[in-house]
Amino acid sequence: MTNAFFRKDGTAQGVAKQRLIETLAEPHKRVINDPYADRFVPGSGLLKLMGHKLNVRLSQKLAPGFHEHLIARTRFIDDLIKDCADGGSEQYVILGAGYDSRAHRLDIPSTLKIFEVDQLEVQARKRSKLPKDLPNAGSVTYVSVDFNHQSLTEQLLAADFDQSKSTVFTLEGVSQYVTKDAITSTINELAVLTQGTSSTFFMSYVDKRLDTDPEDCFGKGYPKAAKRAELIKGLSAKVGEPWISFYTAEEVEGLFSENGFSVVENRTVADLNAAYFAPVGRALPEDQIMKLEHFVVGRS
Ligand SMILES: C[S@@+](CC[C@H](N)C(=O)[O-])C[C@H]1O[C@@H](n2cnc3c(N)ncnc32)[C@H](O)[C@@H]1O
Repeated sequence: MTNAFFRKDGTAQGVAKQRLIETLAEPHKRVINDPYADRFVPGSGLLKLMGHKLNVRLSQKLAPGFHEHLIARTRFIDDLIKDCADGGSEQYVILGAGYDSRAHRLDIPSTLKIFEVDQLEVQARKRSKLPKDLPNAGSVTYVSVDFNHQSLTEQLLAADFDQSKSTVFTLEGVSQYVTKDAITSTINELAVLTQGTSSTFFMSYVDKRLDTDPEDCFGKGYPKAAKRAELIKGLSAKVGEPWISFYTAEEVEGLFSENGFSVVENRTVADLNAAYFAPVGRALPEDQIMKLEHFVVGRS
């Protein structure tokens, strides 16, 4: 395996690491459970030895609330997918799936057809690491696409995507890594693909203020906001996947509505703290809530 190969999955590993850390919490204390995350995380044995509390404490030192922000994002989408499946969605397309194992760890009907979309090399590594006897394996089709250079439509249709079926799409933790043109054409493709049926589209985006005014982005009292903003962007750039695209709420709403999606939710971890972390005794104090990313749901 070459270096170039590994440069493509650095951030996917980073998110899987936070899911592993959350999974190490006692069952009644955790917000999500990902029994497959450890397979994708270098040094997972050491992280397991350290346990949930110490790992979270170290992450707090680096950037307060960063772990919880990623876990809130995962939980928000887990709940959305279960709701969509219960509500009759027949297909689920995971755009930029990385090492997401939602297809195998959620209690969803096997009739929900799942398409995992990502770069070929990342998918190859993922498939080589997953166990052979996976729950729901028969429901998953892998579709390789580079959003910057390839047509999602062509690849999905070639993989038997059914344009007449109600579909949910998620783009989790991806929009910051690709050009705005690529995101615009991807959403446009989704709209055209599903114009004959109803669909749900989730997208996370990084708030433009992270780049222009980190204090305002993170909110009152967040410690060393500007330094932390640079640190987070620097860590992604270091693994070869710099954050290049930031959005305002108005920009995203415009993008959704131009493509026939009405925004029904736009949340940050600040809105989810009480629902997810308070019930397990881990509510974040106000000055440690990292509001850098928004979770948006649109329906057509
Ligand atoms: C931060 S990871 C998020 C992975 C997953 N959604 C999660 O939350 O665990 C970003 C993902 O976007 C994928 N990605 C980045 N640029 C891409 C591109 N141009 N085309 C397709 N996938 C891309 C990466 O391979 C990676 O899996």
